[in-house]
Amino acid sequence: MKLVVALSLVVAICHGSAVRQQRKFPHDFVFGAATSSYQIEGAWNEDGKGENIFDYENHNNPTVIVDQSNGDVAADSYHNYKRDVEMMRELGLDAYRFSISWARILPTGFANEVNPAGIAYYNNLINEMLKYNIAPLVTIYHWDLPKTLYDLGGLLSPEFSDWFEDYARVVFENFGDRVKSFITFNEPREICIVTLMGTGSGAETAILNTTAVTTYTCAKNLVLAHAKAYKLYDQEFREKQGGQCGITISVNWFEAATESPEDKEAAELRRQGEWGLYAHPIFSAEGGFPTEITQKLLEDNAKQSYDRLCLPDFTEEEKVFVRGTADFFGVNHYTAYLVTAAKRVTDSPMPSIMDEFDNVMFPDDSWPAAASPWLTLAPNSIYNALSYLRNLYNDPIFYITENGWSTAKDRDLFDDDRVQYYRASMESLLNCLDDGIRLKGYMAWSLMDNFEWSAGYTQLFGLYHVNFSDPARTRTPKKSAFVYKHIIKNRYVDYEYEPETMTMTIDEGH
Ligand SMILES: *[C@@H]1O[C@H](CO)[C@@H](O)[C@H](O)[C@H]1NC(C)=O
Ligand SMILES: *[C@@H]1O[C@H](CO)[C@@H](O)[C@H](O)[C@H]1NC(C)=O
Repeated sequence: MKLVVALSLVVAICHGSAVRQQRKFPHDFVFGAATSSYQIEGAWNEDGKGENIFDYENHNNPTVIVDQSNGDVAADSYHNYKRDVEMMRELGLDAYRFSISWARILPTGFANEVNPAGIAYYNNLINEMLKYNIAPLVTIYHWDLPKTLYDLGGLLSPEFSDWFEDYARVVFENFGDRVKSFITFNEPREICIVTLMGTGSGAETAILNTTAVTTYTCAKNLVLAHAKAYKLYDQEFREKQGGQCGITISVNWFEAATESPEDKEAAELRRQGEWGLYAHPIFSAEGGFPTEITQKLLEDNAKQSYDRLCLPDFTEEEKVFVRGTADFFGVNHYTAYLVTAAKRVTDSPMPSIMDEFDNVMFPDDSWPAAASPWLTLAPNSIYNALSYLRNLYNDPIFYITENGWSTAKDRDLFDDDRVQYYRASMESLLNCLDDGIRLKGYMAWSLMDNFEWSAGYTQLFGLYHVNFSDPARTRTPKKSAFVYKHIIKNRYVDYEYEPETMTMTIDEGH
């Protein structure tokens, strides 16, 4: 009797894993990898490129970066783009997400002067990809604001949305005949809290030292700029070019640490403060900033003896203008946290966005940790985030536009922890698909090791190792590259798979 039970248990386990292996990604599910201009391109002052805020900050205030490095050369993709496309072919990617450096194509920041060498660089990259049927997914703004525009107020200027619209027009005009997917902004939260202010989670570029009340101004201007670019595409380019335009927001998952109403409320505030602030105006039915945040802000302002709301809210007209301006919701997802009601910062004398939602949060002890202090492997967190967003925002189309794992600088090529992370992500994606979430694609972050902002080159996310001491910036596949390739080719997760050698080849048809 005991034997029978044991045997049927073995059968059940085997059957379980067989069923899991048979869960397949559909053939039209888009697998890709992602990068951004400042983190990989280098060539910071070549061929007429203008200066951006990271060039300026990292040259003038290098101690902001832990290893005092910068993106002057980075992975030198400006000169290595053919090798980059070769890596995409090795992996068998369906798509590649990269960003345009604003100052490379518009050195003054304005559309009065277009830099032909900058346009040529992106044309060469796009054309090389299209030779091998790799679809470009273009991010128009991935943080590297031209310094000229920063000096004029950057995202806090009421003119910002017009500058961005002019820039987006140049992008659509020059690349939209071949690029069918555009992302206006990458990670509004990080733009408005981390890179703009230098407050909050780290002084990425602490060049603008203001109180974080300006976060709301930045959020509003950014969302208006997004909506203007979307409408421009929709009204003047879509018919001819036939593509889609969306936005990418960082959506980590925040779970209440306990079942207490206080913790639940804290988790919801965190979600609304982290990404609702940017997603709600675009994806919700009512538009504008989320009421959870505006309510809390009102209470906080009263405590700070302000007799009016410190919030540049949307007018009714602006709410209507912004609502519904996205063909898809791009999600950068990395990790999850447990949130408690205990406040992390004490109330500041000046209003700060941190007053509204910055409570104590932490990963569960059992979640494996990456090289980046903020990154752990939380089970099924992609599914948790997307199923929440889907219910909140009426079932939008999703792409995961970033997801990845960091390892430390001198790690070897056998990145089994990254393999574990990617396999877990795949299971979570399949859970989304099983549940009918309209998830169309997945971009691994990152194709190659690159400049990780204030962490410099000490936390590396690449599927390919880049030798930063080598002038040629030689790229070498890590074990995770082979595993990702196997998943893309076979459309399922094979836990038994191990690469036979560490030599990459290009499969037929790529
Ligand atoms: C910003 O201002 C505060 C308050 O004056 C100061 O403590 C802090 O060091 C400043 N930060 C930077 C990066 O200049
Ligand atoms: C990186 O490049 C340098 C210079 O070419 C070389 O000496 C070193 O062995 C390379 N390191 C690796 C890990 O390949």
